[in-house]
Amino acid sequence: MSEQRSPPAATTADEISHPVFAAIYDLCPEPEALEAQRGYLVRDLSGRVLELGCGTGDMFPFVVDGASDDLEYHAIEPDPHMRRRAAEAARETGLAVDLRDARAESLPYPDDSFDVVLAGVVFCTVQDPDAALEEVVRVLKPGGEFRFLEHVGADGWRGRGQELLDPIWQRAAGGCHLTRDTVGRFVGHEALAVEEIESLEAGVFPATPIVRGTLRRRNDGVVG
Ligand SMILES: C[S@@+](CC[C@H](N)C(=O)[O-])C[C@H]1O[C@@H](n2cnc3c(N)ncnc32)[C@H](O)[C@@H]1O
Repeated sequence: MSEQRSPPAATTADEISHPVFAAIYDLCPEPEALEAQRGYLVRDLSGRVLELGCGTGDMFPFVVDGASDDLEYHAIEPDPHMRRRAAEAARETGLAVDLRDARAESLPYPDDSFDVVLAGVVFCTVQDPDAALEEVVRVLKPGGEFRFLEHVGADGWRGRGQELLDPIWQRAAGGCHLTRDTVGRFVGHEALAVEEIESLEAGVFPATPIVRGTLRRRNDGVVG
């Protein structure tokens, strides 16, 4: 599998605005296929939690269901059309969310400020995934958890199909990439220890395979 990387400098300067994608996102097969997996991301949440690229707020009902009394939920979303829907979802579900206009590559929070960071199909879309991962590590407290649910590049004929479809897919799906080696990127970070990683029988080609996992920020002072 090979990864097509976009030059970060050229894309991060652009505004992120996909009104049509935001309007139809909840009708697409991908978020529906992920519904059964969202419980994994939100299990036993407590303390200060940050969700990256919360989209239309599909995670919020799951967060409300299991919320502990001390939960302080924060979310970032750079696309104004997505963010407006997320704010509505927060109101409808009754979840208190500190929702901000920000990118994963430049998080508006101090170092060591979150117990848990969540990413649900976000590292496929961020413009500079390496910079975003550095930010996750920076804002996590030592011992804090990074939980993810992501579709990644496939092997074999599926991978070749993804490479062919990727340019069209990026345009149709709000900048989403099909071919990223997201798990390799996460596992390769020296400040993160792998707790578990699992490939799932979920999702719809070409946005498969879907992988979920939990990594923990090491406690030994290594921050990247
Ligand atoms: C496929 S959607 C996933 C939405 C949501 N996390 C979910 O689980 O349904 C990807 C989201 O990432 C957002 N996004 C794009 N670039 C981003 C960036 N640089 N940092 C954070 N989020 C970004 C998009 O606006 C979109 O809402």
